Amino acid sequence: MYENLLWEIKEGIGYLTLNRPQSLNALNNAVLQELSGLLDEIAENNEVEVVVVTGAGKAFIAGADIKEMAEKTALEAREFSALGHEVMLKLENLPQPTIAAVNGYALGGGLELAMACDMRVASKKAKFGQPEVGLGVIPGFGGTQRLPRLIGKAFASEMLYTGGMYDAEQAYQMGLVNRVVEPEELMDSVEELARQIMSKGKIAVQLAKSAVVNGLDMDLDSALAYEKEIFALCFATEDQKEGMRAFINKEKPQFKGK
Ligand code: CAA
Repeated sequence: MYENLLWEIKEGIGYLTLNRPQSLNALNNAVLQELSGLLDEIAENNEVEVVVVTGAGKAFIAGADIKEMAEKTALEAREFSALGHEVMLKLENLPQPTIAAVNGYALGGGLELAMACDMRVASKKAKFGQPEVGLGVIPGFGGTQRLPRLIGKAFASEMLYTGGMYDAEQAYQMGLVNRVVEPEELMDSVEELARQIMSKGKIAVQLAKSAVVNGLDMDLDSALAYEKEIFALCFATEDQKEGMRAFINKEKPQFKGK
């Protein structure tokens, strides 16, 4: 159905694989359009509890497609950036938690897409960077904003101004990734994390995500007010009754996602 993406659902986990390995999964207009459509579908799909994003072949995503970008006018570049922003926002705002399984190069637009996920697990083979300044441009899919928000201004400035490439261990030390694992253990580790999340109350998890993602864009007073309302909303669910009943009776809760 998709030319550049693979999508399958197994036991509640949705696997979204960028599948353009001959170009190291570079993001061109066609890929972004497909991603935009698929993300709309995923947002509506109740069967999907956690989304895992990865890349086919040796790269996660080696950035926006330089060959397609090279001849763009300023106005076309603006449109391309807007499309990139739209896709990253759709990914960031998915109701389900998202994990980037970073199997290889996550550069430029690839790192920007990984940062729009909630968590990142990296293979020891993964490499990270925002190399745009080496091409005479800056990141256009959110990197100048999400990177300092994620790892702080000092490390983000270093990455953005030097365009340097960092290995998985360095990325871990900077707080860019949650875990670093052997390449052959990447999917097991990601699935373990996904299953841990899926063993909890589905609505509570999605509401926690909503509080984190939306709250980060607010001042603290507004974010706490938002948290208060969401906390209250949890008490309208069966899962809250079940979770607290099970605790009190020393049982394992049987959440229904209701
Ligand atoms: N765009 C288009 N094609 C790309 C690409 C990209 N970002 N990255 C790799 N490719 C292509 C290569 O051109 C090559 O194609 P050909 O076989 O037709 O020559 C193929 O993928 C394989 O790549 P390499 O032969 O270069 O593989 P390598 O292992 O020698 O090097 C690499 C790997 C270090 C990742 C190198 O490919 C590279 O530096 N890629 C570009 C990384 C980059 O600068 N990314 C930022 C893009 S700008 C951006 O993303 C802006 C934004 O925020 C919107």
